[in-house]
Amino acid sequence: NDDSTVSITVVGASGDLAKKKIFPALFALYYEDCLPKMTDAELRNMVSKTLTCRIDKRENCSEKMDEFLKRCFYHSGQYDSEEHFIDLDKKLKQHEGSRVSNRLFYLSIPPNIFLDVVKCASKSASSVNGWTRVIVEKPFGRDSESSAALTRGLKQYLVEDQIFRIDHYLGKELVENLSVLRFSNLVFEPLWSRQYIRNVQLIFSEDFGTEGRGGYFDSYGIIRDIMQNHLLQILALFAMETPISLEAEDIRNEKVKVLRSMKPLQLEDVVIGQYKNHTKGGTTYPGYTDDKTVPKDSVTPTFAAAALFINNARWDGVPFLMKAGKALHTKRAEIRVQFRHVPGNLYKGSFGTDLDRATNELVIRVQPDEAIYLKINNKIPGLGMRLDRSNLNLHYAAR
Ligand code: BG6
Repeated sequence: NDDSTVSITVVGASGDLAKKKIFPALFALYYEDCLPKMTDAELRNMVSKTLTCRIDKRENCSEKMDEFLKRCFYHSGQYDSEEHFIDLDKKLKQHEGSRVSNRLFYLSIPPNIFLDVVKCASKSASSVNGWTRVIVEKPFGRDSESSAALTRGLKQYLVEDQIFRIDHYLGKELVENLSVLRFSNLVFEPLWSRQYIRNVQLIFSEDFGTEGRGGYFDSYGIIRDIMQNHLLQILALFAMETPISLEAEDIRNEKVKVLRSMKPLQLEDVVIGQYKNHTKGGTTYPGYTDDKTVPKDSVTPTFAAAALFINNARWDGVPFLMKAGKALHTKRAEIRVQFRHVPGNLYKGSFGTDLDRATNELVIRVQPDEAIYLKINNKIPGLGMRLDRSNLNLHYAAR
């Protein structure tokens, strides 16, 4: 609407997160006409390097990029200086003019300076006639106590409705599709329980290491970086009961029930590891502790696998296997649902050597190359009764 503006301040604009995710995401919103207009520029060169029009051959991509870049500007200042936020406020006002001004602060910075920024932003750069909101990224503390302390700190300056805690995995297309798959297809929901499912695997794997992000990573490790947030969110969405509606609060309530039904994790159900250097095809890849930002004697896990259990009527006894690691062979994130074997042995001996019992697997490939495929058993065409497994494949790029 022409009578109001939104200023988005990316606090930490030159960092890794801003480059890899936030600017590309803002550009995607801009491309779809979901961002209001701003003015002025700097930063543009850096930002332009990671912008993409995600779907190839979209119209006007470079024009749109140029327009977007003209609306980004860089304002340098100290995170904890109210004075500098007063300067920012002035700058924002110049862009806002006389319109109702809404302000969004995206905190793309280490958590130890969240509170300084929130304090300065709320005291010296809040909107006077519109809303002021803050987006924060994990880690939200290291444990319950420090997480509660962070919340208490934020609430000194903001009310709950002003705070948006983001988990970017929830914005991935196939994670958003998870509830649609379950709750809008009658064929899946009846199978979604211990009666048919043998185990569920939640897999996150990256083919690169920390690469200079060790300063952050080393104090958290893979469990806090990936499992307790991204994979646990997926697990909760996967396992929850039907929510009353699609309202955020109703979905949250169902997720909470899943989490509260979970059996506390047992040490013997966990494996951890750390990547070492290795050479492949003449190239040597550094080990975790070769990263200059990581202490030489670090024992922080870069890989973890765990078996989790949900002690409720639907999931009793079904292992949810989480695996997450950096610097592994492939980059992928997927959910694998392995079904129980078909009872009896009607087709025993009809499969190849490794498959003896008929089972099915549903794979939801979150990334890369999104797909949902169901492995089903079929007769190999021709004489005789030989069986093989093939995929019913919904490959997003092809569809
Ligand atoms: C972040 C983690 O939350 O997610 C990073 O801190 C990880 O360590 C990243 O690399 C992975 O996100 P994506 O969207 O690239 O799979």
